[in-house]
Amino acid sequence: MKGSLNKTPNPLFLNKIRGKMNKQETIPDMSVQIRCVSHEIRNHLSVCDMYAQIIRKNLIKSGIENPSIENAIDCIQQSVKIIESNLLDLKSLNRNEPHIVDFERIINRGVELSRAYIIDKEIDMELFTKNTAKINIDENRFLAVIVNIIKNAIEAIQLKGKIEILAEIKNSKGIIRISNDGKCIPKEKQSRLFNQGYTTKETGCGLGLWLCKKYLEEQNATLTLLRSTKKQTTFEITVPIVE
Ligand SMILES: Nc1ncnc2c1ncn2[C@@H]1O[C@H](COP(=O)(O)OP(=O)(O)OP(=O)(O)O)[C@@H](O)[C@H]1O
Ligand SMILES: [Mg+2]
Repeated sequence: MKGSLNKTPNPLFLNKIRGKMNKQETIPDMSVQIRCVSHEIRNHLSVCDMYAQIIRKNLIKSGIENPSIENAIDCIQQSVKIIESNLLDLKSLNRNEPHIVDFERIINRGVELSRAYIIDKEIDMELFTKNTAKINIDENRFLAVIVNIIKNAIEAIQLKGKIEILAEIKNSKGIIRISNDGKCIPKEKQSRLFNQGYTTKETGCGLGLWLCKKYLEEQNATLTLLRSTKKQTTFEITVPIVE
């Protein structure tokens, strides 16, 4: 996404849009550019979604039962939904669409989506859920948070490691703890972790944790760094449950 937004849109397409604007409309070029790029991203997302549907239909038609392929298709379609929802954020930044979802189910989905980032590493990722409840949350944003935090955990592990996700309901709250071994966060840097633009990665933007905190706090949920030692780094999310 981040690379795509820098893409220069087709000048013919840009002129077509400008041609449709009347003289009072003085939308700056950047905003036209963002709209053009998001238009094109949405078109190609529909292609991904349609092909995912075709693969699913063909599997059923051929009588093939393959949970791994089915899970991959689910993940592709969920990612498409998340990107589409992000593109809508370009129209209105504080768009929040909560609805009631099952706590355990949404965490399961987030963990499955994140597995795609384990490439060329030997990472044992396990999810432990104790109990469940209903939560009232914007599903796409919540999934984006889980994916961002697990992606960071994967990136903190050099080659081989362990990630544990614990989810439980306690004191009328949904609690998720995401822990990883690997590189720890030095004490003196911990206070800057959620600042916009703070990154220690060559290709990082320093937006992940800042966005996660923002998305969660907009929904009365919280995100904190519980601890980071040489042994383990743990982030904690709390989210109110529907009584
Ligand atoms: N689980 C973790 N273990 C160790 N360090 C972490 C962990 N999570 C985050 N960090 C540190 O916090 C910094 C900020 O994380 P954040 O997700 O906000 O940005 P980023 O991962 O660097 O870039 P991006 O915007 O692409 O996510 C990281 O660069 C890293 O130094
Ligand atoms: Mg990150």
